[in-house]
Amino acid sequence: MSSQSQFSPQARSAAPHSLFCPSISPCIFVVVLFASVGLFVCMSMDLANDGLEKTNFIAPGTLRHKIHASLPTTFWKLNPHGEAYWNQLQLLIDRNFSPILHPKFRKNGFENTVLSESLLRQSFFEASDLTNMTRNFDEMPQKIQDFVSNMDKRDYPTVIQPDGVCGAGAKDEKGPPLLLLVIKTTESNFKNRQAIRQTWGEVGWVAGQNGSSSGGYVRRVFLLGKESQEELGVDLSELLEQEGKHFGDILQWDFQDTFFNLTLKDVHFWSWFSRFCGQTRFIFKGDDDVFVNTPKLITYLQDQLQKPQAHGTMPDFMVGDVIGAAFPNRMNNSKYYIPDSFYKGLYPAYAGGGGVVYSGLLSRRLHDVSKRVHLFPIDDVYVGMCMNRLEAYPVHHPAFLTFDFPEKEANELCSYHRVLLVHKRSPSQLVRVWSHMKETQTQCSNVTLRE
Ligand SMILES: *[C@@H]1O[C@H](CO)[C@@H](O)[C@H](O)[C@H]1NC(C)=O
Ligand SMILES: *[C@@H]1O[C@H](CO)[C@@H](O)[C@H](O)[C@H]1NC(C)=O
Ligand SMILES: *[C@@H]1O[C@H](CO)[C@@H](O)[C@H](O)[C@H]1NC(C)=O
Ligand SMILES: *[C@@H]1O[C@H](CO)[C@@H](O)[C@H](O)[C@H]1NC(C)=O
Ligand SMILES: *[C@@H]1O[C@H](CO)[C@@H](O)[C@H](O)[C@H]1NC(C)=O
Repeated sequence: MSSQSQFSPQARSAAPHSLFCPSISPCIFVVVLFASVGLFVCMSMDLANDGLEKTNFIAPGTLRHKIHASLPTTFWKLNPHGEAYWNQLQLLIDRNFSPILHPKFRKNGFENTVLSESLLRQSFFEASDLTNMTRNFDEMPQKIQDFVSNMDKRDYPTVIQPDGVCGAGAKDEKGPPLLLLVIKTTESNFKNRQAIRQTWGEVGWVAGQNGSSSGGYVRRVFLLGKESQEELGVDLSELLEQEGKHFGDILQWDFQDTFFNLTLKDVHFWSWFSRFCGQTRFIFKGDDDVFVNTPKLITYLQDQLQKPQAHGTMPDFMVGDVIGAAFPNRMNNSKYYIPDSFYKGLYPAYAGGGGVVYSGLLSRRLHDVSKRVHLFPIDDVYVGMCMNRLEAYPVHHPAFLTFDFPEKEANELCSYHRVLLVHKRSPSQLVRVWSHMKETQTQCSNVTLRE
């Protein structure tokens, strides 16, 4: 999502303190014990466990998985918020994947795609009479109504796509791409795309911060839906087609490009990625109004790959500005408004703020698991919901700046060299920042990322 000041930083410290489980591992032990006794007990434990994972912002490489190792978190439990529409729909699916009711899934994973898809369809029939959403439907804001009426559709035709390859940059590659830059944009934002192509979005071999020996191949693709022609007053489809032919980086689908439809871009992208992007190691997915320090990102990613435990962590790898235990926005005039008849409870930990980086391996797993997670109107939160069901957790890194630089850092000569991402920057700012980065390269060569 492009701007999210309502998910204020306070939300991060608002993680509820558990009354029943003051420390985490005994609590897990207790739940495991009770789980075998019966579901009933789990129901009463439910509130106590809500938000467990959200309190932990884990530094890269430390603590990962230790806390969550033995137990899935709360998604499969009997849902105390079942009367909200999304929760009700999802409950009907999650129940089928409960490790208590279906212990074999624990071992074999949840790869049964056919089962997932049929459950998804079936849940719409079962849920429709049960919730308040359907009762007060006409009183909901129009865009919520639009979202709910189209929630069951997630296979829109492709309009424009790169020619059988994984985005622009295939020429001259002598090895598999290290990084695919995936940028959400709209038809009318040509200037943003052009600024990105000329600055941080350059494709081909990109040297890391440490010099050319630590670089990697970079590719790029832009994700678009269709803007309303009435609102634009002009038909841009032919121009976009030309742009796609020229740059090879346009991926467009035939759905309306609205804020609540952004989740469709993720779902369709994962599917496309699984088909065309075989060996791509990492994905940066972000908005078209951010600055990304691509050389530093490449060095950071190379470092991750060289860690001894990399083989184990890569299938779960996601890093960004992690927001934990955020409350849904209940102000009906907000862009992010989610009525409580639609969704109840806190959001799972998610990486927000304009850009996130994850592994190609994780992208494939997200593609699979998304088939049993109902679409949610806020894209970053939806990714968090999918992560939750994979028992994977995004890692927080302070070099992702959602709310720009803190005042005292803003005017430092090397400030941009110390970050991986800054939100938000206009096309002309991007160009200026990029040349400033080049000019200060020598002076700032030894700075390290923000911590
Ligand atoms: C790059 O340099 C930093 C600090 O100088 C070092 O910690 C890191 O390991 C280097 N990475 C690579 C891939 O050489
Ligand atoms: C999403 O796109 C579909 C297909 O164009 C459209 O019918 C629907 O109204 C859009 N949903 C929202 C919430 O804008
Ligand atoms: C938004 O909330 C206010 C106060 O609760 C209410 O008066 C108004 O009708 C609501 N508007 C919409 C579009 O639901
Ligand atoms: C749903 O409707 C029932 C009965 O009208 C009411 O008691 C309950 O509080 C409502 N729940 C929500 C989430 O609005
Ligand atoms: C970086 O280099 C400059 C001079 O080249 C030096 O003054 C500064 O202390 C160095 N900073 C670090 C963090 O090593």
